[in-house]
Amino acid sequence: MRLDDLTLWYLGNPAAPRYVGALKLVAAGKGVSLRYGQAWLDSGFALSEDLPLVDFEHMPPGRLVADTPRAVGAVDDARPDRWGEKVIRFVDKPKRLSLMEYLYYAGDDRFGALGVSTSSSTYSPRAGGALPRLKDAQQLSEIAAKIEALEPITALEAKIIAGGGSPLGGAKPKALIDIDGEQWVIKFFNGEPVDTPLIEHATMTLAAQAGITVAETRVIPLAAANAIAIRRFDRERGRRIHCISAGTAIRAATASGNDPELGYPGLARILRRVGVTQDDANERDARELFRRMVFNILVDNTDDHEKNHALLVTSPFDNGRLRLAPAYDVLPTNSGQGYQEFICGAHGRDSTLENAMSQCEAFGLLPAEAAAEVARVIDVLRTWKEHFAEAGVTARDIESLAERIDGAELLAQRTAFDPTRFQSPPARRKRPGPFSHR
Ligand SMILES: Nc1ncnc2c1ncn2[C@@H]1O[C@H](COP(=O)(O)OP(=O)(O)OP(=O)(O)O)[C@@H](O)[C@H]1O
Ligand SMILES: [Mg+2]
Repeated sequence: MRLDDLTLWYLGNPAAPRYVGALKLVAAGKGVSLRYGQAWLDSGFALSEDLPLVDFEHMPPGRLVADTPRAVGAVDDARPDRWGEKVIRFVDKPKRLSLMEYLYYAGDDRFGALGVSTSSSTYSPRAGGALPRLKDAQQLSEIAAKIEALEPITALEAKIIAGGGSPLGGAKPKALIDIDGEQWVIKFFNGEPVDTPLIEHATMTLAAQAGITVAETRVIPLAAANAIAIRRFDRERGRRIHCISAGTAIRAATASGNDPELGYPGLARILRRVGVTQDDANERDARELFRRMVFNILVDNTDDHEKNHALLVTSPFDNGRLRLAPAYDVLPTNSGQGYQEFICGAHGRDSTLENAMSQCEAFGLLPAEAAAEVARVIDVLRTWKEHFAEAGVTARDIESLAERIDGAELLAQRTAFDPTRFQSPPARRKRPGPFSHR
């Protein structure tokens, strides 16, 4: 069966799914379009800024052949990524492998609050069975390792991983598990030269010390290696929170025909423009994003791409405004490449503090304020070795990471940074004003 037509649902309250619209495979299989249904046009919300509530077929941007195939706007965040696609190929084995199959077979537990069904009258997702529990983590890790190595799995193993193997994005082996009635992502060790799961936990908890809101993490020791569990931030007391990735938000805010500027300053401008204004949450989120950028640079997390930042739409029917989601997937890449995946400033992707400071006004920060944030992150980074050791990271792994984090490039930046250089002149500069297109 080819899934050329699917339907999209909103599951904010999973007990009462709402029909959003029709999904179609377009652009010779390289894209997925969305046409909202009448009831959603009457009383729904725009899933992203590029999907306003108007009655026509929203098409994904052109140039798809050269670019990665994608679904339109926020729908793209409802599909799995490399790991999930691998699980679908292994477990569900659909006859055809298009964006539509990946959208459908991701099942009921995908990112955010969207759901995909084959019917336009009922939400009937691909049945995945119950989520595995913490006690199944060892077995899950073994099944994930087999899939990663492209080794065959048994029918029983397929059934176990079908419960939570494919919904989420990312490239690394992972699954969803139930811990005390809540959903967590569990990410497995994947033969890296260092204990990546433990290091991810150590980095995330270090980030918290630098004033970064992080997703809650737990180390799950398994027979041969550690795993890391990360509590889902898009689930809250039985409800699902509509979420979009940074890439979706930035693309949606980019005039058609222009290339999206996938980076921190662009994301900060969006947060300030369409973030939650109550209690200045938008300004605080933009400031925190600046902190995350500096932390990622200094901790050698160069893999800070567009899907490694997310935004929550906490009151979608009310105002659709955005909050910065807790940080996740933050750990040293240990490659020392000197470039981030996300643009940081006037010098593009350069992993330098000078670059980070260069467009601080986009984050709503005066140079002196931005410099104080940098100084704060540097202060925390000073203690990274002790913190990692306390978290249980071995001396050998710390030494390996130190080659980058305390290597010539990054360490020199930490030691040479002088916040006094950024003090405002006596006639205090004006705080950057709101954007004219607000
Ligand atoms: N705690 C969480 N709550 C909700 N969604 C999450 C959470 N953690 C991760 N995700 C979603 O799952 C995706 C994959 O997670 P993550 O980035 O940690 O995996 P990864 O395989 O390490 O990614 P990468 O391919 O960037 O290395 C994220 O892009 C995000 O959409
Ligand atoms: Mg990731």
